Amino acid sequence: MIEDRKLEHIKICLDKDVNATHNYWDDVILKHVTIPKVDLEDIDLRTRILDRDLEAPIIIDAMTGGHPVAKKINENIAKAAEELGIGMAVGSQRSAIVNPRMEDTYSVVREYEVPLRMGNLGAPQFALGFGESELERAMEMVDAHAMEIHFNYLQESIQPEGDKVVSGLIENLKPLAKKYPLVAKETGAGFDRKSAEILAEMGFRAIDVSGVSGTSFAAVEYYRGGKLGKLFWDWGLPSPYSLLQLKGMGVPLIGSGGIRHGLDVARAIALGADAAGMARAILKYATKSHTAVVERIEEILNELRIAMFLSGAANVDEMKNAGYVLRGELRAWL
Ligand SMILES: Cc1cc2nc3c(=O)[nH]c(=O)nc-3n(C[C@H](O)[C@H](O)[C@H](O)COP(=O)(O)O)c2cc1C
Repeated sequence: MIEDRKLEHIKICLDKDVNATHNYWDDVILKHVTIPKVDLEDIDLRTRILDRDLEAPIIIDAMTGGHPVAKKINENIAKAAEELGIGMAVGSQRSAIVNPRMEDTYSVVREYEVPLRMGNLGAPQFALGFGESELERAMEMVDAHAMEIHFNYLQESIQPEGDKVVSGLIENLKPLAKKYPLVAKETGAGFDRKSAEILAEMGFRAIDVSGVSGTSFAAVEYYRGGKLGKLFWDWGLPSPYSLLQLKGMGVPLIGSGGIRHGLDVARAIALGADAAGMARAILKYATKSHTAVVERIEEILNELRIAMFLSGAANVDEMKNAGYVLRGELRAWL
């Protein structure tokens, strides 16, 4: 059952337009600096997040697992992430916790020296009985440096079979967040400041905002036959708005949800992200080959370098102080 759903998600995300109606990253304009700081080729993209050193501030975010097709996708992503020195996360590992035959569709990523390798489990499961043993199994399965715990209550609300339970969640996660390197992650509806503060106080090590701008899981569920998906298509907090709300909390931030190219990565960093997360924009390349992923990310890195060059930044820390103007619908949110 879970396996079929996983494949269906991938197919819908490849074939249909499941994007939010508006991409709010277009409302972020970086300010031009006439005399760049350093030569383009000397722009330093290296960064450190979750105690791991990356060659560039990019994480290929959680998408899949739990199906033979997904194994190849995860392998292509891991091999590309190793080659590029960037981060990655596998998709929800619940299917392998329930059905150990699925483990290799995730554990394949262990074969690659990915500098930041993250596992992934859903928060609702921790309200429904998952605990330390499931978390440890998931971490071991991918030899995880950190575990993403995804909050996907929009999707669960729209899926007829969704888990719409939150009671006990915080109490159950509290001891785990103190003991393990957990990253709190949305899946396209964004993080509000109050929820982020609760999780940061519990000990979550980073927050992946995954807001509105790109993949809408309400849209994905609409194509699976969930009528409510149309009504809630654009529900959630815009990704750049979410980032700005969380800025200054002192917890590392992953800017994600609708990141399409290197200019969006630069915009996310200027708004306070320590790294940018990309999911659906990489999916079609990941279904082809690891080389296709490498080639696309190399283009993105070139776009990022140009954006940093023209913003007067020599490295990622300096890019965090780049000037920007916010306009349009994003302004209305603020
Ligand atoms: C096909 C697909 C499957 C996904 N599966 C998961 C998942 O299992 N766990 C998770 O935390 N997020 C999952 N996501 C959400 C992404 O990690 C990301 O938060 C969201 O898609 C927004 O980013 P994007 O606009 O770059 O796609 C999935 C996204 C896609 C496109």
